[in-house]
Amino acid sequence: MSADIPIRTDKVPRHVAIIMDGNGRWAQMRNLPRQEGHIEGVKAVRRITRAACKIGIRYLTLYAFSTENWGRPKEEVSALMALLVSCLHNEMPLFMENGIRLRVIGQEEVFAPEVKAALDEALAKTAGNTRMDLVLALSYSARWELTEAVRKLAGEVREGRLEPGDIDASSISRALATSFMPDPDLLIRTSGEYRISNFLLWQIAYSELFFSPVLWPDFTEDMFYGAIADFQKRDRRFGKLSSSNQSKS
Ligand code: IPE
Ligand code: IPE
Ligand code: MG
Repeated sequence: MSADIPIRTDKVPRHVAIIMDGNGRWAQMRNLPRQEGHIEGVKAVRRITRAACKIGIRYLTLYAFSTENWGRPKEEVSALMALLVSCLHNEMPLFMENGIRLRVIGQEEVFAPEVKAALDEALAKTAGNTRMDLVLALSYSARWELTEAVRKLAGEVREGRLEPGDIDASSISRALATSFMPDPDLLIRTSGEYRISNFLLWQIAYSELFFSPVLWPDFTEDMFYGAIADFQKRDRRFGKLSSSNQSKS
């Protein structure tokens, strides 16, 4: 941990989600092809995964590829897929040494067989790890996820297993791809964009948001710890009064 950024060990967010943005611009600024930015972005993934593990974050969700990203040029999509496959292979020691369990949220069925096979293998190999879940959002979008959840619940209603009147917020949470983890405490987006881009729309209802101007390949451990330290100073009220005011009324 950095000596300069004090992090309270008693207030570490359980779940941090990151919109890793800015790889393309990082490359373009250097007159490199966009793919080079993605390669550099993987180094940041490694850094931040290690850092998250070190401070005891239980769930780290990374937005790696959105449903909408399929609309990018074919060469970029292929490069990203190849990078994913090599990354799953190369990072296996990192996952095993740090007790990291890999998870995927997204439309897994749309991936090419070799990508699907690499994912399945990594998921199986790390299934017994319990220190941190590294959740990759791949071919993910929140509207896709919510549409799937609605379909699932509608199916249960049709089969007579669920009454429409019994559908509540927790039944919806349970029908989502993220049902195995709590909602993010903190959502970070890099690259100076102030938008959510179809990520975890349901789950971020009360997440704290942190926007960094830094492009993802330049995002350092200390910047990550800085975001955590900033989170720790916030007063999360969840629509109520802050704890210091709660008793006065
Ligand atoms: C984020 O970087 C990574 C993916 C979306 C796969 P971008 O590729 O969006 O980089 P910019 O936003 O064009 O700089
Ligand atoms: C969001 O970044 C998706 C990922 C980081 C994977 P984008 O670059 O695709 O989002 P927009 O297009 O700027 O909204
Ligand atoms: Mg982008």
